[in-house]
Order: sequence, then structure tokens, then C-alpha cells
Amino acid sequence: MTINIDPHCDSLVAKTSLPQELGFGKFFAPLMVTAQYRDQKWQNLTLGPYAPLALDPATMVFHYGQSIFEGLKAYRNRSSLHLFRVMDHARRFNLSAKRMAMPVLPEEMFAEGAVAFCRAVAPLVPSDDVSNLYLRPFMFADQVGLGVRPSESYLFLIIGTPSGKYFADEAVKVMIERSYSRAASGGGTGAVKTGGNYAASLLSDRRAKTAGFHQTLWLDSSTRKNVEELTGMNIFFVRNNSLVTPRLNNSILPGVTRDTIFVLAKELNIPVVEEVVPIDNILRDIKGQTCTECFVCGTAAGITPVALLGEPGLPPYTLAASPGPITQKLAKALHETQRGQRPSPAEWIVRA
Ligand code: COI
Repeated sequence: MTINIDPHCDSLVAKTSLPQELGFGKFFAPLMVTAQYRDQKWQNLTLGPYAPLALDPATMVFHYGQSIFEGLKAYRNRSSLHLFRVMDHARRFNLSAKRMAMPVLPEEMFAEGAVAFCRAVAPLVPSDDVSNLYLRPFMFADQVGLGVRPSESYLFLIIGTPSGKYFADEAVKVMIERSYSRAASGGGTGAVKTGGNYAASLLSDRRAKTAGFHQTLWLDSSTRKNVEELTGMNIFFVRNNSLVTPRLNNSILPGVTRDTIFVLAKELNIPVVEEVVPIDNILRDIKGQTCTECFVCGTAAGITPVALLGEPGLPPYTLAASPGPITQKLAKALHETQRGQRPSPAEWIVRA
């Protein structure tokens, strides 16, 4: 596949200056990658100026919600950037596409678009140890027409935001959600990255923030007894010096960072248990101090320690250590791995 590169890309990047505080998802690189799916085929990728999209009000995504996305990061490597686990993100993108009755995108096309984007915007990624480039590949139904059915045409895009930390605070407070669900278990869409899962989380997110929490912790939607994940990240606990995390089911997102942590834990001789995690057992163990640490993890969040779990108006369950020693060890190893400073499987680091 060839990628068409607009001749103005370099000058657009050269003219762009970074804001003082990058934060997360506020400032966007002035370029974007696009590709259209037409007549059952993907057309060539294009890298061009970042620009608004003009869409017909009857575009199917607005009505039936066929939209998926990924989040992956690139890090500065001297004068260029490298992508972390781009092929794993490409594979997960296609799992999302299949679940949402959307066409799969060849993995090499996903990677080629991401590499070209990184090459072009590399000057906008600061060389400090915190900054990175967060890439947001996404795809949506762009056929015009009403009537519930899969769209016949789609648009794939990659945009990117030079970013700093996702959470401004060092540790997060997590609200246990007992009433709402983000995605139905047993055949729902919880295990894929589709916009609707995030839309369904927002009412709870508002309640959480109003009550002084950072994020919602979702329980399984059938029994509301077992821990699943947060709105935008997976969760790990440290119980008796072992890592404990919910076993994947079809309503938990298979996080790439979650998987990276399994590999790092093995290297660091930290046992990992994947199991059904009843919330009541966790709260009992936090109280009894056999569960001493908890952290959340995701591409955007990295590893972020959890300070407490709670519910509005009830006494919180505060973790004995935040950040605890195991969380810190893993966070350091993750940071070094993502930045290419620690050996990792060859496919994980792709130079742009
Ligand atoms: C990510 O970690 O990349 C996500 O998509 C989660 C979102 C909260 C930014």
C-alpha cells in the first residue's frame, strides 16, 4: 500500500509551536492520516493537514454508532520516534471492527499510517522523560442514509496529541459503581473499543467526579459482584505480594498495557493471578491489609496508583501503600520498556 503525503506537511509542522503545558488530549498535531473504505475495498492512505470533517446529517455513525478507536503511544528515540506495540493495537482494532460489523483494516496499513504520522510530527514531541505522542486511530460509518444496518462505507483516520500525564494527580480515587453498567456482559461490546461503551460510562463519571473521585470502577453487569475494569483502564490489586486482576471475559477490554504487565511481572518474579475478583473480598482484604496496593493501567494512564476505593457518602477503603513497592517496581519497568531502555520482544518497538 502506498501512502500519499501532502507536500505541505513539513511546513505545517515547522510552523506549529507547542503549548507550555501539554496535558492529555488538548493539543493536536496539525496532520492526520485518512483512508476511505469504498466498494468493499480500502483506498490508499493519505497524510495531510488536520482539518474538520464535513459530514451529512444522515451519516450513519450519528444514528447507529458504528465507531471504533485505538490509543497507542510513540516515544522519542533521539531524533526520531518509536511506536510501542503498534501491531498489537492493529490486531485489537480489528477485533473491535469485527464485533461492530465493520471491515477489518490490514494490520500493515494501520502500522504504515502510524509510522508515517510519527515521522512527520516527530519535531512536536518533547525529549523529556514524561512527554510522548498519543495516537488515536479510529474508524466510523460514513454512509449516508437511515435504516439500521451496517454501513457500506467507512472512514479511517489517525490523529495524534503530543501529551504529558493523563492524570494530574499522583494517585487516583476510584468510585465503585453499583447501579449502572457500561456494557452488557455475555455477548455485549465491553471487550472492544467502541464509542458507545464510553458514552454509557459518562453519567457515572459525572457522579464520580462530583463526589471527588477520578474514575468509575465497573462491576459485572449480571451480578454486580465482581470487579471488571475502569472506564478507560484495567485494574490490578496486590494481595499477599501477588498481583491479582480480573480474568478476561467478554466485557473486559484486553489491555495492551495489562498484557505488558504480565510479561514484566514474570521477569520481576512477581506472581500474577487472573481470576474472578469479588468486590466484597477486595474490600475485606484492603481492610484487613492483605490487599496493600492497587493500580490502574492503560495506554493513556500508564500505571497509576490507586489511593482509595469508595462510594459517595460512605467511608472509603484506603490502600495501605500508594504507591506501594510492587506498583513502583512495575511502573519503572513499564516506563523503561516503552521508552526502549529495557529489553523487550522485538515486535514491541517499531522505529518511525
Ligand atoms: C487509552 O488508554 O488509550 C484509552 O483509550 C483510554 C482513554 C481513557 C483515553
